[in-house]
Amino acid sequence: MSQSAASSAISASPRVHALLRRLHAASASQEKALSKTWFYFKRLVAFYLFSTPWGAAADDHMRDKFVALEEDKCHFMYLLARSAGALNIVEAGTSFGVSTIYLALASVSGKVVATEKEPSKAARAREHWAEAGDEVTGVIELREGDLLETLKRDDMPEQVDFLLLDIWTPMALPTLKIIKPRLKTGGIVLADNTSMARPMYHEYLDYIQDPANGFKTTEVPYSGGLQMSVYLPEQSI
Ligand SMILES: C[S@@+](CC[C@H](N)C(=O)[O-])C[C@H]1O[C@@H](n2cnc3c(N)ncnc32)[C@H](O)[C@@H]1O
Repeated sequence: MSQSAASSAISASPRVHALLRRLHAASASQEKALSKTWFYFKRLVAFYLFSTPWGAAADDHMRDKFVALEEDKCHFMYLLARSAGALNIVEAGTSFGVSTIYLALASVSGKVVATEKEPSKAARAREHWAEAGDEVTGVIELREGDLLETLKRDDMPEQVDFLLLDIWTPMALPTLKIIKPRLKTGGIVLADNTSMARPMYHEYLDYIQDPANGFKTTEVPYSGGLQMSVYLPEQSI
């Protein structure tokens, strides 16, 4: 993506733009590697044929990978969060902290609760945020450990305006259920790769598409699919 596309979408200093370009390039080059395509292919086949869950071997494979949200989706997410005036944002799945930088830039003077269970990934994320500097560091609170625990703590923002689900697919619905009691009416939820990994997302998609659960939802046709949902419980029927 060109430099001007990034600067026409995102308000950030030239230093942060340069950092984001570098991180997206590193992530994209990992994604293009044959081993990555082969990994996803094997995962889908194992899930289809044997319902194999995400396991320790998959975690091992992913430990040194960015798996960052693609740049075009990050721009969309940033503009969505800005237009919604999102102050309190939760990010499920932080990895090396790329999408977190966009969320921090979008929340202006709010708070981003980021989550990562792999200590080495959390350390890399902190390095990237330190490099980004004041524009983002004061806004992010990284909770290390299993988000099924760390997001249940009492010291969560009372109200959540925006939730990014960029997490292994079996975690999407449990995470949404933890955050939902705090989600404001009109709050936005994005879930990544919902068309690419549709079979593995089926419980999440069934839930979010059931009017009884209070969401209005559509898939934005970015590569792999990006499910965008708005919490509108009073209009659920
Ligand atoms: C797709 S990556 C996130 C990418 C990141 N949002 C970005 O755009 O740079 C998903 C991350 O979720 C983390 N993760 C998986 N299960 C988790 C859990 N139970 N608690 C916290 N983090 C988890 C993984 O270690 C991985 O780094």
